Amino acid sequence: MNRKYRKTVIAGNWKMNLLPSDVKPFAERLKAEAGRVKFCDVVICAPAVMIPAAVKAFRDTRIAVGAQDVSEHDAGAFTGEISAAQLRDAGAKYVIIGHSERRQYHGETDAAVNGKLRAALEAGLTPIVCVGETLSQRETGVSLDMIRAQVKSALYGIPAEKARKIIIAYEPIWAIGTGMTATPEQAEEVCGEIRAVFRGMYDARAARAVTIQYGGSMNPANAAELLSQPDIDGGLIGGASLDAEKLLAIINAANQ
Ligand code: PGA
Repeated sequence: MNRKYRKTVIAGNWKMNLLPSDVKPFAERLKAEAGRVKFCDVVICAPAVMIPAAVKAFRDTRIAVGAQDVSEHDAGAFTGEISAAQLRDAGAKYVIIGHSERRQYHGETDAAVNGKLRAALEAGLTPIVCVGETLSQRETGVSLDMIRAQVKSALYGIPAEKARKIIIAYEPIWAIGTGMTATPEQAEEVCGEIRAVFRGMYDARAARAVTIQYGGSMNPANAAELLSQPDIDGGLIGGASLDAEKLLAIINAANQ
C-alpha cells in the first residue's frame, strides 16, 4: 500500500451468492464495525438484483456498492444486459469488469473488456478491471507477458485522465476460490509490472496513482502480508467477503 499516492480499496465480490433478504442483516453487522474505517475505501459488489437493497442498507456509510458486470452497449435491444447508466442510476459506484469467471464461462474477450471499461467510465462508475494468468501460463513462465497484454488491451484508447480512475485487480486464476494464494512476492511482482504498464502507456504520475488490488483466496490470515507490499493497494475478495467477520478482519488489515 502507498496511501500517499493512491487509495486503498477493499472490495467484496459476492459472485452469485446470498439473497436480497440477506443484505440488510449483513449490512448491519458490517456497519457496526466499519464506522472506524478511515484509511481505506470499502465496496460490496453484489448481484444486480441486490444492488438497490445494498444501496439502501449502506446509505450514510463509507461503504459503497458495486456491480459484477456491465454491458458495453449504452441502451437498446440487448435482452438480459444491464447498462452502466442503469447501474449508476440504481446507486452503484463501482463495477467489476473482465472477471476471469466471465472470461471463462461467458466468452468475454479483451475487446469486450475494453468496451465495458469505456461504458463504465462514460457513466462515471469506477471500474475494477480483472486480469490474471492460468496455472499453466505461470508454470510455463509467460505470466507477465499475459498480464501485460491483458492490461494493454483493456486500456486501449483510454486517455490518461480517465485511466487514473481505473482500479486493476490482479487475480491469478489458479488462486481464485482454491485456497491457494499467490505469495506476497509473486503478487507484488505482477502488481509492480501492471504499474509499469501504466508508466509506459501514460506517465509516472498515472502509474503512481493507480490502485492495484490482489485477489485470489485473500483471507484474514494472509491479508496483512499481501497488503504490506508496496504495489498492492487493496483486495478483491470472493469467498471471505460472504462472512462479515472475515471481511471486517481484512478491512482492519487494510486500515492499519
Ligand atoms: P476468492 O475470489 O477470494 O474466493 O478466491 C476472488 C475473486 O474471484 O474475486
